[in-house]
Amino acid sequence: MTEAPLIEAKAVTKRFPGRRAFPWQKAPVLEAVKNVSVSVPRGVSLGIVGESGCGKSTLARMLVGLTRASAGTIDIDGQRVWAGDRAVNRQARQRIQMVFQDPLGSLNPRKTVRQLIEAPLIGLTGMAAAERRVRVEALMDLVGLRPEFIHRHAHEFSGGQCQRIGIARALATEADILILDEPVSALDVSIQAQILKLLADLRQRLGLTYLFISHDLSVVNHICDQVAVMYFGEVVETGPTDSVLRNPAHDYTRRLLAAVPGDRLEALRTGS
Ligand SMILES: Nc1ncnc2c1ncn2[C@@H]1O[C@H](COP(=O)(O)OP(=O)(O)O)[C@@H](O)[C@H]1O
Ligand SMILES: [Mg+2]
Repeated sequence: MTEAPLIEAKAVTKRFPGRRAFPWQKAPVLEAVKNVSVSVPRGVSLGIVGESGCGKSTLARMLVGLTRASAGTIDIDGQRVWAGDRAVNRQARQRIQMVFQDPLGSLNPRKTVRQLIEAPLIGLTGMAAAERRVRVEALMDLVGLRPEFIHRHAHEFSGGQCQRIGIARALATEADILILDEPVSALDVSIQAQILKLLADLRQRLGLTYLFISHDLSVVNHICDQVAVMYFGEVVETGPTDSVLRNPAHDYTRRLLAAVPGDRLEALRTGS
């Protein structure tokens, strides 16, 4: 028996009005995401790789309901989401959350850690203030933020600490699916390793399901069980991470691998 996917996108497409060469022309249609289908079983971490502009963030935004798909469907736990039923969408918002690339830029610098982490609790649950405070403290402990930081403002923190705040906020409503859009790309390498370790531990401890977007194949190799390769809005190859990285079927995947520096490539090949 194959396990039912926890999140499944079927033939998802997103069209944007493209740029006109002249003002009197009709705007061309830009297909940022074309007919993409992905399916992630519970507890699995799926990597989405591909170069800048290939549609990764657009796909992420459709999955979490920040952008409406032009075509296609998205199901969470077998239920159609972002299709108009408000009660269903509200419940889905608690279960699927996004972690953004730019930890400093995605947090309002004037808000305190408490305000930032409890925002989804205020928006999506009926939790009372005292209860929210307890939950925020538990989340801070979970992501490794010291309790005395609770009244500090986001601008007082480093990139790595901000990403811990972003992860705590994403987990506030007990989401079981995280869409991580280049969550470590903006961080120094040593900090990257700490945040990747935190994400791996959290997945294990909480049984989370990840869609992990990255342009860095060594990061994907580290944290993803499966990988989907995107190229110009389409998924061109998908499979278990080790077979895709060690035995790529698609020409574009081979080119991505060829761009990885030698020592890192060696680590990918040997699976270390
Ligand atoms: N809101 C938007 N309006 C118009 N075009 C967009 C919008 N968002 C993204 N695009 C375009 O869609 C394509 C994919 O972008 P994006 O999903 O951000 O790629 P990636 O995250 O892989 O770098 C790009 O050509 C981008 O310019
Ligand atoms: Mg992006």
